[in-house]
Amino acid sequence: MKVLIATDKPFAKVAVDGIRKEIEAAGYELALLEKYTEKAQLLDAVKDANAIIIRSDIIDAEVLDVAKELKIVVRAGAGYDNVDLDAATAHGVCVMNTPGQNSNAVAELAFGMMVMAARNMYNGTSGTELKGKKLGIHAYGNVGRNVARIAKGFGMEIYAFDAFCPKEVIEKDGVTAVDSADELYSTCNVVSLHIPATAETKNSINYALVNKMPKGGVLVNTARKEVINETELIQLMEERADLKYMTDIMPAANETFAAKFVGRYFSTPKKMGAQTAEANINAGIAAAQQIVGFLKDGYKFAVIYLTIGAGIFALSSIFRKELSDFALGFCEGVSVVLIVGSAIYLIVHFMKKKSQ
Ligand code: 3PG
Repeated sequence: MKVLIATDKPFAKVAVDGIRKEIEAAGYELALLEKYTEKAQLLDAVKDANAIIIRSDIIDAEVLDVAKELKIVVRAGAGYDNVDLDAATAHGVCVMNTPGQNSNAVAELAFGMMVMAARNMYNGTSGTELKGKKLGIHAYGNVGRNVARIAKGFGMEIYAFDAFCPKEVIEKDGVTAVDSADELYSTCNVVSLHIPATAETKNSINYALVNKMPKGGVLVNTARKEVINETELIQLMEERADLKYMTDIMPAANETFAAKFVGRYFSTPKKMGAQTAEANINAGIAAAQQIVGFLKDGYKFAVIYLTIGAGIFALSSIFRKELSDFALGFCEGVSVVLIVGSAIYLIVHFMKKKSQ
């Protein structure tokens, strides 16, 4: 079995060494493609890989088409937005990530950027302090929780909005849960973004929302560039000279931001939230262990999911009359996804095994 690390932005050496140890201990071979500059290099490297570890690297249909031996892709990080999940399903390739493994690193960088904004980009003039300021955490996942933990040390008043996380979970951490993004932005001096890039969130951070921030507002983005409506943010920052934008994901319109908003805009040259030895080790080794577990036992999970799907389908058919249309549709939808997904995986798994 060949496991490929394909990282345009390499892991720290100590993390690669740790991954190698895990992979070789399982009897597999490790291949390394780092700092690649052309997609052709990736296409060539994936040809005989059975598993791939990536970071923000793009795994699309073209890559999956040539990766004939591929069984699993693990993003050593958060989200799946850089992997074409439909194409992966069609190819019977499992996709995982490593939730929480690099969250502290990203949260610490968010504070690095908050301090930088509060101290006027370290230009020598008198700035402000974070203590006593209102911090808004937009989405309370693994990174959001770490931001809340660190914000307590800074003595900030902490607010959070998350469309999916129950209020009780947020408030248990001593954070005030607000009812909407509008309320969060209207309340807070600093907003730290931690939403994923999905069809619903893309371009959602727009003129109307950011304009709700009080005078001197700072928007910090360590999430994804796609969630920002760049045209509207540029328009707003032109109209409001008090706003600052700090980002760890260089906007498409970086040159415009940099030219127009000197002293109010900062972007890292390359996403570096997770660029610490610790985060690389945590996420990289978790990815390696997930791959070893999957390659050894993966088909067992597919059998379990197939059984669960069949069970839900059978029960929803038996209790058809008692269920509402919505509940019935939901159960049928979930069972079809589980049955079809697992069946495709198992068919591909056993066909590949047979041909080996
Ligand atoms: C993540 O998605 O986990 C972080 O944004 C880090 O991404 P990276 O590993 O590409 O730096």
